[in-house]
Amino acid sequence: MTLTTRIVEHVANDWDEAAAARATTTLEQVVFASHLLGGNRALANIGGGNTSAKGTATDHIGREVSAIWVKGSGSDLATMSPADFTPLRLDEVLPLFELDEMTDEAMVAHLAKCQIDPAAPRSSIETLLHAFIPAAHVHHTHPDAINVLACSRDGQDLIGECFGRRAAWIEYIRPGFTLAKQVGTAVRENPDLELVVLAKHGLVVWGESAREAYERTVDVCNQAAEFVDGHAGTTVRFGGPGGGHRLGEDAREEVLRAVLPALRGAVSSGRSKLLLTDLSPTVREFVDSRSAPSLTEVGAACPDHLVHTKRLPLWVPYDPGADDLQALSARLASAAERYRAAYQDYFERHASADDVMADPDPRVVLIQNVGLVAVAPTLKAARISRDLYHRAIEVMAGASAVSQFVSLSAAESFAVEYWPLELYKLSLAPPAGELQGKVALVTGAAGGIGRAVLASLVQAGAMVVAFDLDGPGAAEAVESYGDAAISVVGDVTSEQAVTDAFAKAVAAFGGVDIVVSNAGIASSAPITETTLSEWERNQGVLATGYFLVAREAFRVLRQQGGGGSVIFVASKNSLVAGPNASAYSAAKAAELHLARCLAAEGGGDGIRANVVNPDAVLQGSKIWGSSWRAERADAYGIAPEKLEEHYRNRTVLGVNVLPEDVAAAVMHFASPARSGKSTGNILNVDGGVAAAFPR
Ligand SMILES: NC(=O)c1ccc[n+]([C@@H]2O[C@H](COP(=O)([O-])OP(=O)(O)OC[C@H]3O[C@@H](n4cnc5c(N)ncnc54)[C@H](O)[C@@H]3O)[C@@H](O)[C@H]2O)c1
Ligand SMILES: [Zn+2]
Repeated sequence: MTLTTRIVEHVANDWDEAAAARATTTLEQVVFASHLLGGNRALANIGGGNTSAKGTATDHIGREVSAIWVKGSGSDLATMSPADFTPLRLDEVLPLFELDEMTDEAMVAHLAKCQIDPAAPRSSIETLLHAFIPAAHVHHTHPDAINVLACSRDGQDLIGECFGRRAAWIEYIRPGFTLAKQVGTAVRENPDLELVVLAKHGLVVWGESAREAYERTVDVCNQAAEFVDGHAGTTVRFGGPGGGHRLGEDAREEVLRAVLPALRGAVSSGRSKLLLTDLSPTVREFVDSRSAPSLTEVGAACPDHLVHTKRLPLWVPYDPGADDLQALSARLASAAERYRAAYQDYFERHASADDVMADPDPRVVLIQNVGLVAVAPTLKAARISRDLYHRAIEVMAGASAVSQFVSLSAAESFAVEYWPLELYKLSLAPPAGELQGKVALVTGAAGGIGRAVLASLVQAGAMVVAFDLDGPGAAEAVESYGDAAISVVGDVTSEQAVTDAFAKAVAAFGGVDIVVSNAGIASSAPITETTLSEWERNQGVLATGYFLVAREAFRVLRQQGGGGSVIFVASKNSLVAGPNASAYSAAKAAELHLARCLAAEGGGDGIRANVVNPDAVLQGSKIWGSSWRAERADAYGIAPEKLEEHYRNRTVLGVNVLPEDVAAAVMHFASPARSGKSTGNILNVDGGVAAAFPR
């Protein structure tokens, strides 16, 4: 059997004895093994699984105490550090084994009192399971190969067939005291036991060393994979391709480009979402397959996935041979609506009085014959949903090849999804920024004002697309923002470049909500010396460019159907007539009036259009680094270095205007919370220039 026909991939043993030898303490050893487990997502999914070690620790007054270090809640095996482990006094934990039952609240309260370091994170939900197993190292994971059998209808028989008496099978029960006691009892009563399989959940192994426990995980996973392959015979994953027309990768991308804004609108019912697309071979195989429509109705492949993927993905049928893109967009909207209604129903059926319904939008959308779209208010959360769904695909592939894929019931799923101990992990995330889930496109982003606008939008939690003629400048402007920003090089006077910039925003984040038209140039000359080309250059960038950006913005915003904010960075000159700048000022006045027309036209769709008028922002501006400074100084009959003072003195407030001041005004119009009921407005940021007072 070749690698590509395998139902479940085998996993490598990555233990490196030389590297392991550098981990000298018990804690360092469990950290080392955790990184290996987390480093292979087929073994330990993101955020999932937990590890522990038992040994001797020194407490705060120098006493030696017998200790257990357990993974803290909310960390990830792949990246955790020693500080992410919680040390507990084992002697104070073990007596709990004698109890018959214990509530979650009592368990959490007791464990908090056993912490050797009160400042350590809260220990994992599965702490007692680790403590009750009498072995130095315990590893609990949700590996694909084991979960294939754990999520099979006749999983218990299959595990028995595969491992014989070396394995214990424990029927599904939500983690907590009772599960820990069941596992602890099984291990204590069967000295020959090597692994415990938790139905519909995962694997527990142990060993006297970190290496022994780690290698046990790898070995049993490979045995299970071998068993599944042998058992599946000639079965192909997911029953092979279904009917319908098969699309190439480019064609799939084209479909997504066309429908993503509509999808984004459809799944942003309560709050704005970011969309992360996935057209990987694994996803394509699944969404094209014969069994996907029914498999996607079964449920999660591990309780750990629930808060990140919900119980079910949103499955959207699409036959590229028969459906057009408009039909698909409409179907996405109606399917999302039905999904919310079903989620509400699920909530009402199972909720108790204290439960508060989570966002009812789907987290994973599967478009048949196209691909997967992960949905979340942050890219990080969308990535987790996407990655966990890959695990689900692998588990469904195996389980449906050897048996029938089964999952938690709706009631069991609800009990995990709304479990306070699971919600606690989510509460550890940083608080949401004001613009979380929003996407902003900023033109002229490499300039002085543009950079300040980027900084304030990113600070508020928005994703930003920095568009500028100056490619290296735009790239540099976003450099420090990681994946919260992308840069796009292009000319706002080019229809194609503008369309492409919006397409890139859609591909990266799913759409756009805030468009800041800020690209600019400046020129100064008396009217008789203003050349036609100078006039046309000003009209091109400032009038036509703003028109093209606004037109594309309206197209995307209307497809999303969730309103939006268009902000023009015009100029005090749009209101005030001054000498020797008619080409610039007339083009800025055109911007201003265009914004007002857009406000009138966009209102019905909730699209707001507002203008920020800066004046004399010399700091950081390329405009002021050019001949404009000399020309303006000349026009006022003063030396160029006297300009700051000149501008300050002519303001009512006697201040100079900084890029950050302009960014604050842009932020006002960007934020629905601050200005959701304002459109067609002008906010001057000019220190107060009486001639520019709007009336
Ligand atoms: N700085 C001021 O005093 C002042 C005053 C009033 C209005 N404004 C307006 O503020 C905006 C930003 O100005 P700034 O001071 O940051 O200037 P800046 O020169 O520092 O930045 C402008 C940016 O726009 C980019 N750009 C120019 N033409 C473009 C095109 N065709 N396509 C794409 N990008 C293009 C430039 O590469 C530059 O990065 C401009 O619209 C300007 O007219 C500035
Ligand atoms: Zn688990």
